Amino acid sequence: MRKISIGNGEIQASEIALGCMRIADMPVDKVSQLINTALDEGINFFDHADIYGGGKSEEIFAKAIDMKSSIREKMIIQTKCGIRDGYYDFSKEHIIEAVNGSLKRLNTDYIDILLLHRPDALMEPEEVAEAFTILHSSGKVRYFGVSNQNPLQMELLSKYLNQKIIIDQLQLSITNTGMIDSGINVNTENDGAIDRDGGVLDYCRLKDITIQAWSPLQYGCFQGVFLNNDKFPELNKKIDEIAAKKGVTNTAIAFAWILRHPAKIQAIAGTTNVKRLKDICKASDIELTRQEWYEIYKAAGNKLP
Ligand SMILES: NC(=O)c1ccc[n+]([C@@H]2O[C@H](COP(=O)([O-])OP(=O)(O)OC[C@H]3O[C@@H](n4cnc5c(N)ncnc54)[C@H](OP(=O)(O)O)[C@@H]3O)[C@@H](O)[C@H]2O)c1
Repeated sequence: MRKISIGNGEIQASEIALGCMRIADMPVDKVSQLINTALDEGINFFDHADIYGGGKSEEIFAKAIDMKSSIREKMIIQTKCGIRDGYYDFSKEHIIEAVNGSLKRLNTDYIDILLLHRPDALMEPEEVAEAFTILHSSGKVRYFGVSNQNPLQMELLSKYLNQKIIIDQLQLSITNTGMIDSGINVNTENDGAIDRDGGVLDYCRLKDITIQAWSPLQYGCFQGVFLNNDKFPELNKKIDEIAAKKGVTNTAIAFAWILRHPAKIQAIAGTTNVKRLKDICKASDIELTRQEWYEIYKAAGNKLP
């Protein structure tokens, strides 16, 4: 498994991470099998949020590995906060309370990386800065990042923070490429030129902020998986053709497409299936050519100007 450098090179993370959003209702032994498979495949990064399964995902994760210090040290554990029941909350009190809850459920003394989950329109950056400093100086959180934020939101926050934003977790899959399309279509009349994220891809590269791709196999927002899906005949034909050539599954190609980008994006796999996880990890053994990458991009319905 190839590693990427996150932050100022202080974190060496697997380029594929395991997302734990869907594990809440699994039997503990199956979660244990999934985590151990991830570790065996070289995955050292695990993505959580306080709200996944209403807290059950963090809880079952800790149970499944019996959170001993020997295993904890092998893992980079990231969690998120800021989404509440029907609203967003980046208040100092809520951030601190949410981290205390995650620490308890994860049965650990520290979170490696804390992300603010979705922009809170009522955010007061000074308060977030206070919360981060308290959490950092008490040793409860080592690093900080955001999710679903655009460059100006990160700039605003950074003006007040004492810590660097090292991650922005964003939706990205072959069928969700807005952040790539706007760069390709600059100054054209094509729909692809519409900039919905303020140039987040180039901003993150400039600032050494790692982009994490959530829902790497989904189209729309949780509308389903695009692989083996009749709605995407051309895309599947192209992916299958390249998969056969490289001797891997279509799932591996879908991940390889994200990993091929020079921004060194980390892809977050949401599978709960051990066999699929192994297939996904094969993406780290191959590299798409420039031509293959563009062929897949175009087969998803994108046009080059
Ligand atoms: N920051 C955010 O706002 C945000 C939002 C959403 C998610 N996330 C993070 O991103 C992670 C990944 O998101 P995700 O779970 O949506 O990612 P995903 O990997 O795109 O989707 C995983 C789901 O697709 C299913 N699947 C995969 N391949 C399939 C196939 N060929 N046929 C049928 N089903 C297939 C999986 O089923 P199996 O389990 O059977 O493989 C699983 O239910 C989450 O765990 C979470 O950590 C973050």
